Amino acid sequence: MKEFANEEFKEKMRITFDYNYAMKEYLGSDNTVSSADIDDYTEECAQVIRDIKKEREEGKLPFMDLPYASEEVLEIKQLAKKVRYMCDDFVVLGIGGSALGMTALMQALKGPFHNAQNDDDRDAPRLYVADNIDPDFFKGILDNIDSYRTIFNVISKSGSTAETMSQFMIAQQFLKDNLGAGYKDSMIATTDAKSGILRDIVNQEELSSLIVPDGVGGRFSVLSAVGLFPAAVVGIDIDALLAGARFMDEMCQNEDVRKNPAALSALIYYLYYQKGRNINVMMPYSSALKDVADWYGQIWAESLGKRHDLEGDVVNAGQTPVKALGVTDQHSQLQLYVEGPDDKVITFIKVGEFDNEVRIPEAYSGISGIDYLGGTTLTRLINSELHATEITLMKNSKPNCTINVPAVNAFTLGQLLYMLEVQTSVMGKLMDINTYDQPGVEQGKLYTYGMMGREGFEDKNEEIESEKKRVDKFKV
Ligand code: PA5
Repeated sequence: MKEFANEEFKEKMRITFDYNYAMKEYLGSDNTVSSADIDDYTEECAQVIRDIKKEREEGKLPFMDLPYASEEVLEIKQLAKKVRYMCDDFVVLGIGGSALGMTALMQALKGPFHNAQNDDDRDAPRLYVADNIDPDFFKGILDNIDSYRTIFNVISKSGSTAETMSQFMIAQQFLKDNLGAGYKDSMIATTDAKSGILRDIVNQEELSSLIVPDGVGGRFSVLSAVGLFPAAVVGIDIDALLAGARFMDEMCQNEDVRKNPAALSALIYYLYYQKGRNINVMMPYSSALKDVADWYGQIWAESLGKRHDLEGDVVNAGQTPVKALGVTDQHSQLQLYVEGPDDKVITFIKVGEFDNEVRIPEAYSGISGIDYLGGTTLTRLINSELHATEITLMKNSKPNCTINVPAVNAFTLGQLLYMLEVQTSVMGKLMDINTYDQPGVEQGKLYTYGMMGREGFEDKNEEIESEKKRVDKFKV
């Protein structure tokens, strides 16, 4: 029996949300949220949770069912098993929601040194995520891989994203130049089941492929083949990841907001947003979880930053996500958080047990400025600094909450990502906006198509050309 099926393990690894220092009862300031404010929203939150359940039953929120897609998971695992032994380097071509989730999984569960390990110590291929089209960066990847021992995974839900498709064409040429007709065995596509240019290419060229399920948007796709396939290739236990997500799903269905970590955290951010706190800082005290904050930045920004509400009124809504890293940013951002404007709500992520216990030697006993450090551990130091920061913020009436992660493993990461996805959905409902579209990023795409000469977008290029003539006034 896998350990994540064991009730004792599940309880031990349950992540919790501590919101004491987000409450007026501790902060004592006028512009804070009280327990009574939460009570006032109990019924509205219960209704939001019921609405989400209903939409899910109607098939409108397929991301919520990804942890239960056992057939797809089997297919992913089988392909990953095959691919793992075919390559030393596995290169993901994707951007935004097609890259951030798996980067977070990789950083959390394989660590920052996976690629740097020598071949004998490394238990899986190196993973590169080509999430930018900076020519030096992309050429750098191609220069560092061996075409005979590399598999590319091109990931695009729409199948037409300019950045990803450009990389796909370059990578494909790179493979063809070196492998000839055999290039097809080294390219795997993850895209929509039926539509899109990438799906047409897959069909015409008979490439291997996986599916981004219908209705699952990029930023909600980490638990689909988008995140799971690369994760499985590098040896992440995707069964444990999905078990963690299912465990969290049970908690997220609780209509009592006080017992539902996703809904409760969303409500707290919403109430603070109403009070003018327009910035949502996520600050893990864990290098492993650093890229979870990056992934969260996208889901929060792209889902909730909207001009219109559901009635069509202009609201220009959104709470700006900021990613920070503890303790590093204590020496960079924290001054602003403690003494700056009352425009933030801060969420820490605390890791209970790290994989390694690193002891500080008793090297300088008698030197009072540092001898207190000797004999203790880095875990004690990092978590003491976190606690000190929580208290400092509280004493300065700055609301802060903490997500407690007992240990970083696939089971807890599945819980965390699922909780933050549902939290975003609940926040969108409370804000009365469409969480799942992104009209604001479309305009820029259309201008790019125009400038790059895409057929049908000539008018956009004309607009750009006339703009160029207008914008030479203010420059030094
Ligand atoms: O979350 C989103 O929808 C976006 O970030 C997309 O994932 C991103 O634009 C890439 O899109 P696609 O997967 O269609 O290439």
